[in-house]
Amino acid sequence: MSSPEELLRILTNKATVESSWREVVASVPRAAFLPEVVETPSRTVSRQDDPNAWLAAAYDDLPLITQVNDGREPDEGAYRLPTSSSSSPSLMLQMLGLLDVRDGHHVLELGTGTGYHAAWLARRLGDDRVTSVEIDPVLAEAAAKNLAEAGFRSRVVCGDGDAGWADCAPYDRVVATYAVPSVPYAWVEQSVAPDGRIVTPWGGSFFPYSFATLEVRRRRADPPVAQGRFSGYPAFMRSRNNRPPRGFLADFLHHRGKEQTGRTQLCPRVLAADADAQFWVGLELPDAWYLLAEADDGSGEATLWVLADDRSSWAAVEFVPDRETYEVGQYGPRRLWDEVEAAHRAWARLGRPGRDRAGLNVTRTEECVWLDTPAKVVRTLHHAR
Ligand SMILES: C[S@@+](CC[C@H](N)C(=O)[O-])C[C@H]1O[C@@H](n2cnc3c(N)ncnc32)[C@H](O)[C@@H]1O
Repeated sequence: MSSPEELLRILTNKATVESSWREVVASVPRAAFLPEVVETPSRTVSRQDDPNAWLAAAYDDLPLITQVNDGREPDEGAYRLPTSSSSSPSLMLQMLGLLDVRDGHHVLELGTGTGYHAAWLARRLGDDRVTSVEIDPVLAEAAAKNLAEAGFRSRVVCGDGDAGWADCAPYDRVVATYAVPSVPYAWVEQSVAPDGRIVTPWGGSFFPYSFATLEVRRRRADPPVAQGRFSGYPAFMRSRNNRPPRGFLADFLHHRGKEQTGRTQLCPRVLAADADAQFWVGLELPDAWYLLAEADDGSGEATLWVLADDRSSWAAVEFVPDRETYEVGQYGPRRLWDEVEAAHRAWARLGRPGRDRAGLNVTRTEECVWLDTPAKVVRTLHHAR
């Protein structure tokens, strides 16, 4: 039963699959792109030990982790960071819908991973219209092999996708399958202008869960610019060349008992449940992440941890049901909860807009997030390169 046709059936039951992708989904064998061992959201499945379960995972609408810790075998009990995966097919379709791929388009994919997504594009557009860049040499080689063995000849390049791939530019469409805290200008420069389009998971550490869909424009001889909006709630791995350290909570906590204490009226549970608030607050905290840890005693209590990427600072806010203020502890050179509160107040002053009112502008020198109209810039990020 586990087959590409079965995957199409599963996807069709969930949502309409655009006709241009139906034949693609039904004819590209995902199993041909997966390693012998994959991790589903609930378990690790080995092809050798349980071939039926492995095949069932391949043709289910599941994200499958295909590499952890950049391919280095983690020590027993060590933190396991997923570093490559085959995204869930429904998420791939969502991204491709945003990308608005048309016949004849030339597409640049950043983050080849297994090669499965590149194979979809190649089946849809033709081998010579797809270029894919993967930073990990072992993965790039495996993807090229997977593609060749499945009968595809699209180009796989080993390199830093943040630099795009100038040799084959310009591209009608640029799609990243890893998250970036800001859009590399190379992607804009290498796009067809006007009418090029870029789709990428976007955001800093606090809220990396947005797709940015950008149209590329050019006025006369000026350098091209990209402009667009945010949607979706994708969870992608961060670009490897500026990946902040991750680990267990304990790796980020130090000097417990030495924190400065206080109280806050900003309810940590409300913040943790409000994606719009997180998006706007996240613009001011691109280098800190958060974790809501539920008490396991049935009390309904929880701790919201805010943790600096560089591990220098942390904050803890204790949620207790039916209280109007909450205890806060902050340690380190930054007062992270004060930063969250200030960003939250600034969002409130804007009238608590949803993320759908935000937009993004990318020029050669800077990247701006705006509210409602490009003239109303809320946050400017400067390009590192
Ligand atoms: C979610 S996985 C790719 C999914 C893939 N498109 C598929 O269908 O299998 C993200 C990939 O991006 C790669 N990656 C991360 N940062 C990168 C970068 N700066 N340049 C190129 N590839 C990168 C990772 O090594 C990983 O293989």
